[in-house]
Amino acid sequence: MSCVFQRHTQQSYPVAQHGEGCYIIDSEGRRYLDASGGAAVSCLGHDHPAVIQAVKDQLDRLPYAHTSFFTNQPSEDLAEHLIARAPAGLAKVYFVSGGSEANETALKLARQYFVGIGQPQRHRFIARRQSYHGNTMGALSVGGNMTRREMFEPMLMEVSHIVPCYAYRYKRPGETDAAFGRRAADELEAEILRLGSETVAAFIAEPVVGATSGAVPSVPGYFKRIREICDRYGVLLILDEIMCGMGRTGTLFACEQDDVAPDLLTCAKGLGAGYQPIGATLVAGRIFEAIASGSGFFQHGFTYIGHPTACAAGLAVQRAIEDEDLLARVQERGAALRARLEARFGNHHHVGDIRGRGLFLGIELVAERASREPFDPARKVFARVRAEAMARGLMCYPGGGTIDGKRGDHILLAPPYVIEDGQLDTIVARLGDAVDAATAPAVAEG
Ligand SMILES: Cc1ncc(COP(=O)(O)O)c(C=O)c1O
Repeated sequence: MSCVFQRHTQQSYPVAQHGEGCYIIDSEGRRYLDASGGAAVSCLGHDHPAVIQAVKDQLDRLPYAHTSFFTNQPSEDLAEHLIARAPAGLAKVYFVSGGSEANETALKLARQYFVGIGQPQRHRFIARRQSYHGNTMGALSVGGNMTRREMFEPMLMEVSHIVPCYAYRYKRPGETDAAFGRRAADELEAEILRLGSETVAAFIAEPVVGATSGAVPSVPGYFKRIREICDRYGVLLILDEIMCGMGRTGTLFACEQDDVAPDLLTCAKGLGAGYQPIGATLVAGRIFEAIASGSGFFQHGFTYIGHPTACAAGLAVQRAIEDEDLLARVQERGAALRARLEARFGNHHHVGDIRGRGLFLGIELVAERASREPFDPARKVFARVRAEAMARGLMCYPGGGTIDGKRGDHILLAPPYVIEDGQLDTIVARLGDAVDAATAPAVAEG
């Protein structure tokens, strides 16, 4: 009997024992092809020698030193690496241990910035429905994932949630992408005005929505309009690239493809690729300057910020992405995977939409393709897909409540950037069988 408090207490899990390229092998010797990087984390597979060596070398030198006493070279080098490649205006990096901490940091930085520049009335945040920003209280408050919020609703801070830029479900019949993007973005302006623009601190959004909706990119022009609105009202733009950043969509930062630069940008998963827990908040120079020229102290901090071994892993991962030309590989393999998904599922009765960017792809499952009617949530089709895929030696990342927190099912695919061409065929073949098994009427009645 395990003493570990597992995610689902009534489920038993295989014991992950070895990593071999894009495979995880369990203690019984079963092999699982990782088509989701866990939760879009393991972008270099599970045994990258240079990253493992970098972690070992740092452990030999110095595992950890608290940042109230010291800085350390891996954090200096990783910050320099990221800032040299970051969207315009981002100048500093605050390293944490994961995505929720990175967003918590961004929210508090936004608040302290406004207090520092003499606008203490700015304390409100606006976010989008069908988003996920983490499970700590601040991050959960801005998140729009109803299932994750429900239990804690009375404890969350008040946050406005506007329509997501989710064309398959929210674009009206006959509406162009441009008109839909404009309408969706304009909800931000309306909400800023409703709240009183002088009270709004920031708007937070994922450039490509990950776990909650299944790789939903915005339509062209949407984020440019969002940026304009933020600028007009002095509202900060926080982009959450925890899942979609660090090369996942084919550019190091997802927002490069939307041609916008945020004031704060958060990243995590692909930053350390699972070799160490690490996240980061990238900060605009003007925000840093406001704090530096004010109290000089950000009223925040965690024990493990700037962790040397985590930063050493992150640096080695980022160098591997560059040295191995992996962004080009993500673009090429992403296009190849998408083409194969379209060939397998393009006319599938239970697949409504195939979407995403790079190696960050989503499939939305429906009860009926023509009407886009979702499955009855009671069937938990997404959970069945996960189980059927695992039984076939495939890891994918399905989710439910895709449309509105209750209805809808999707599958997220985010394989390692080092996935081989032949492995794409295995992913599609196993996923096809898993989807057929999970959506078959006999399963529903059983
Ligand atoms: C977009 C996004 N933001 C934040 C988080 C939270 O990250 P973590 O689980 O590392 O705290 C996640 C995790 O899935 C995420 O996908």
